[in-house]
Amino acid sequence: MIEVQNLTKKFNGKTVLDDISFEVKEGEIFGFLGPNGAGKTTTLRIILGLLKPTSGNALVFGQNLGENEGLRNKVGVLLENDGAYEQLSAHENLDYYAQLYGVSDSLDIVQRGRSKQNE
Ligand SMILES: Nc1ncnc2c1ncn2[C@@H]1O[C@H](COP(=O)(O)OP(=O)(O)OP(=O)(O)O)[C@@H](O)[C@H]1O
Ligand SMILES: [Mg+2]
Repeated sequence: MIEVQNLTKKFNGKTVLDDISFEVKEGEIFGFLGPNGAGKTTTLRIILGLLKPTSGNALVFGQNLGENEGLRNKVGVLLENDGAYEQLSAHENLDYYAQLYGVSDSLDIVQRGRSKQNE
């Protein structure tokens, strides 16, 4: 389901990821461990298509998420920072993120949540 192939990433000439490869199969629970600054978030950002690798590939369902917006919209990630705005209520947070996904009606939001649960 996730294939990371010979991934290398340099920031301003500094090598942060040095030729890493791994594979995660469907249904597998995968632990990705490393000390602070090892490159875990950088790897994840490349997998999500938010950052381009210097070389190598990161594929989800055989595709590059950076080039496939439809697939990217189906992928969720929860990083150490939850991304919720503390100034907004829970409902306002849901409305805000729903709008980013083009869901403007709150009934749609509830239905979308239910259909996700049934997937
Ligand atoms: N946009 C950037 N520009 C320059 N250097 C960066 C950038 N993003 C990350 N780095 C550097 O790349 C290295 C890996 O960072 P990364 O955030 O991927 O590590 P991490 O394993 O997620 O660490 P942590 O456990 O602290 O979350 C660090 O040295 C970091 O300073
Ligand atoms: Mg990190």
